[in-house]
Amino acid sequence: MHRTIFVTTALPYSNGSFHIGHIMEYIQADIWVRSMRMSGHKVYFVSADDAHGAPIMLKAEAMGITPKELTNIYSKERPIYLNGFHIKFDHWHSTDSKENTLLSHQIYKKLKENNLIERRIIQQLYDPVKQMFLADRYIKGTCPKCKSDNQYGDSCEECGSTYNPTELINPHSTITGAKPLLRSSEHLFFKLSDSRCINFLRNWIETKNINNKKKLQDEVIAKISEWLGKDEKNSKLEDWDISRDAPYFGIEIPDFKGKYFYVWLDAPIGYLSSLKSYCELQDINFEELLDKNNSVEQVHFIGKDIIYFHTLFWPAMLHFSDRKTPDSVYVHGFVTIDGKKMSKSRGTGISPLKYLDLGLNPEWLRYYFASKLNSRVEDIDINKGDFISKVNSDLIGKYINIASRTAPFITNFFDGKLNFYNKNESLISEIKFKIDLISQLFENREYNKAIREVMSYADYTNQVFDISKPWEMAKKAKSGDSSSMKDLHEICSFTIGRFKAISVMLAPILPETALYICLNFFQIEYPLNWNDALILPQKIKPFKHMMSRIDEKIFSKLFEQNHKEKENMDLVTNKEFINIEDFARLDLVVAKIVRCENVEQSDKLLRLTLDYGEENYKNVFSGIKKYYNPDDLIGKLVILVSNLKPRKMRFGISEGMVLAASSKDEISKEIYLIEPPEFTKPGMRIT
Ligand code: MSP
Ligand code: ZN
Repeated sequence: MHRTIFVTTALPYSNGSFHIGHIMEYIQADIWVRSMRMSGHKVYFVSADDAHGAPIMLKAEAMGITPKELTNIYSKERPIYLNGFHIKFDHWHSTDSKENTLLSHQIYKKLKENNLIERRIIQQLYDPVKQMFLADRYIKGTCPKCKSDNQYGDSCEECGSTYNPTELINPHSTITGAKPLLRSSEHLFFKLSDSRCINFLRNWIETKNINNKKKLQDEVIAKISEWLGKDEKNSKLEDWDISRDAPYFGIEIPDFKGKYFYVWLDAPIGYLSSLKSYCELQDINFEELLDKNNSVEQVHFIGKDIIYFHTLFWPAMLHFSDRKTPDSVYVHGFVTIDGKKMSKSRGTGISPLKYLDLGLNPEWLRYYFASKLNSRVEDIDINKGDFISKVNSDLIGKYINIASRTAPFITNFFDGKLNFYNKNESLISEIKFKIDLISQLFENREYNKAIREVMSYADYTNQVFDISKPWEMAKKAKSGDSSSMKDLHEICSFTIGRFKAISVMLAPILPETALYICLNFFQIEYPLNWNDALILPQKIKPFKHMMSRIDEKIFSKLFEQNHKEKENMDLVTNKEFINIEDFARLDLVVAKIVRCENVEQSDKLLRLTLDYGEENYKNVFSGIKKYYNPDDLIGKLVILVSNLKPRKMRFGISEGMVLAASSKDEISKEIYLIEPPEFTKPGMRIT
């Protein structure tokens, strides 16, 4: 039966370049889509930029451009990555689009008609300088439980407790540093705690999808069941705040002036908008295609951090706006590097662009990810040695090797023609058995098992070839032994027949290699179907290079940390830039050195007493003993980092830091304190 499937990947925020985690998700989905197409199913594969939200608005503002301009910068570079890794979406759209505005309005209206939207006044922290309400992540202060400073508005990284941002001690806005005020504002809530929602969701997660399969993985069901509870009474589902006050970059709420949809309301609607925009280009009736009575399957690939949005909020939004709900939400784990979480800010992680720039074959990465992926929510580790050995021993040593050692016999002895000596059926049924198994494993997203099966078939193919000692047959054939000639022809034909089947099996993972082999080696057409593996090849062209081994030296460069690395063409990423909020967190003030003395027990340190205005003093230890005579420093103005976390040293507590310029040269190092102009005064803020 031929199915129609609507497939999406999570919509990446458009305030940054793709990282290797995004690429992994797209490769996982792309392999699945290709394999489903090989089964003859019709697939619509779309994604989009998730353009809205406060971080995008603030970053654009810091860069002096509009959010749209910011989004454009990143959307322009998307094709470099997608084409580079052979990720073939049918369409890429944006949530900041007319389609998304329209659909968001429509869905909202339906939810409202169904009495699931409620207005409520809430109290929220407000930045009086920036004149905006602050999301929890833009508020920092001292943890009310353990009293650690510099903790975010919703939870403490030190003690792990969660709280309300209003409970923070000495809160400040991370945007302006201002002390936030508590203000009330009217918000819209989606009543997820309504018994209709809970009952619907309970039922939705338990019932099978259109293919009579589970919609969600077991571990995902376990996770959301904690929220849903056994029944209405035990449910932890709370109503969901779906509105934000201006200024906000988002979709304005039609009947609520000055208020915008929270980005997570319109983001998943972006899946539909992208498909709608594609349908318009293709002259397809979108509403008909996605009609809830139609048998189109809706499949979302996402990472484990956004499960709630996709398995609770999103199905409920769709259901109560009379739309088709997802048939499958396929959740993957996170990419780790050598077992460690990747962090963009610390510069760990593997740059997809660097991978391409180094000239590394994108199909190696596709193969590596596939060899690690299964249907469970497990993290996927990138490990250099593992990567090299997978590619070199599997792809080259086992797979390509089959053709490179067999083809010359066929070319030299048989003019490129194959002959199966009427044993076609036995080979075809051998291949059919494998293809059925492997195509099923692809459909079930058990790519690692599929690869294990393919490689064991490659091993088998090589063994059968070796055992028959074709080089000896060739020797005898050369001296006129016709039965050896026949044997040689047969074993080589069988081996090449198996090679073709393996190429088809690997085609979802290695689409370019499969294409190349079809066109240039077998001289047959592409695109492939699974059943093409059952058509035995008739002839081959002489073997030409199909894929190289990994050069360890070049590959190693991928893992070298390079801070100056450019992540994209026009713009340097967060790695090198801090944004204005980061800078604003530094409290730099003019201070006067009022006392200065040697620290006897240290050959590096001077103790400075600094007046930083309004009779405030700080004690700072500074590593400048070798460069200054204490008496010369008294009365000098310096620049003090006054909000540096105090540090306990052997000689006392250092409460800050003074700025100095220093040479790189460690042997004849020079250090100069930075002196503000003499007419400045202690306490003046440096901005
Ligand atoms: N914009 C939201 C998604 C909206 S979907 C309606 C978002 N964007 S994201 O850019 O942060 O993440 C996009 C996808 O990448 C998500 O599925 C996320 O789980 C995935 N990943 C983010 N970091 C990842 C890894 N380190 N490894 C694998 N996937 C990762 O969330
Ligand atoms: Zn704490």
